[in-house]
Amino acid sequence: MAFREKGSKIIIKNAEQIEGIRRSSRLAAQSLKEVAPFVKAGVTTEFLNNIVKEFVRDNKAISATVGYNGYKHETCISVNDVICHGIPGKYELRDGDILNIDVTTILDGFYGDTSKMFTIGTITDHAQKLIDVSKECLRIGILQCRPGNRFGNIGYEINKYATSFGYSVVYEFCGHGVGLRFHEEPEVCHVDEKDTGTMMAAGMIFTIEPMINAGKARSKVDKHDGWTARTIDGKLSAQFEHTILITPTRPDVLTDIDGEFPKP
Ligand code: MF3
Ligand code: CO
Ligand code: CO
Repeated sequence: MAFREKGSKIIIKNAEQIEGIRRSSRLAAQSLKEVAPFVKAGVTTEFLNNIVKEFVRDNKAISATVGYNGYKHETCISVNDVICHGIPGKYELRDGDILNIDVTTILDGFYGDTSKMFTIGTITDHAQKLIDVSKECLRIGILQCRPGNRFGNIGYEINKYATSFGYSVVYEFCGHGVGLRFHEEPEVCHVDEKDTGTMMAAGMIFTIEPMINAGKARSKVDKHDGWTARTIDGKLSAQFEHTILITPTRPDVLTDIDGEFPKP
């Protein structure tokens, strides 16, 4: 049984650790590229999980979620009103569905964590807008990442942006330090107060992974499986996640293999 260490500090990673985490983060991002062509109507979420499973194994890595608090799968696949921690299974994707695939790799002991949205066939304009705003929320959070800025400004800016569209930000699940373990300090809240919290410093590595709901912010975890977190009103939810390194200059988005964020 693992207990959260009280008063433990945010780890500042050294050059060797950063290189390891960079490689693992790249692999996690590549696994989402690998699965992308298979994401279409008629396939099960279990099938997509298996594509990632084989890719991660073929690259001499393992998935951090297997065995994590009893979780048994290589990915989380969260469809429509599922906010996060959707369990891959027999559900067959259908036209109009939106889904998040989340993967955390362990390569040579180092962790990289990323997720993104996929769409099936023709989705509604409303669903597309939610996805676009969620992606922009992650970008806005990343723009706050520099030494001396406070963690609270990440959630402050994300929440301000999302609520301006009438959406809500999930506050019951957060981003987190990552790299040497799956979930390190700090907790990175996506709803927060301006100029509060710890100061960011070069060498910190953490995720930002805002979950944006079309309706109410509250979630409920499935009684039967103990994992699947859904919106309480059944409305859609969307999420993107990156692993980010603080550098003296601009943030280094370690899971960005598409060049969407300029490198420091
Ligand atoms: N990868 C998720 C995150 O972004 C955590 C999944 S934990 C699991 O932090 F056990 F549900 F897989
Ligand atoms: Co994460
Ligand atoms: Co993740």
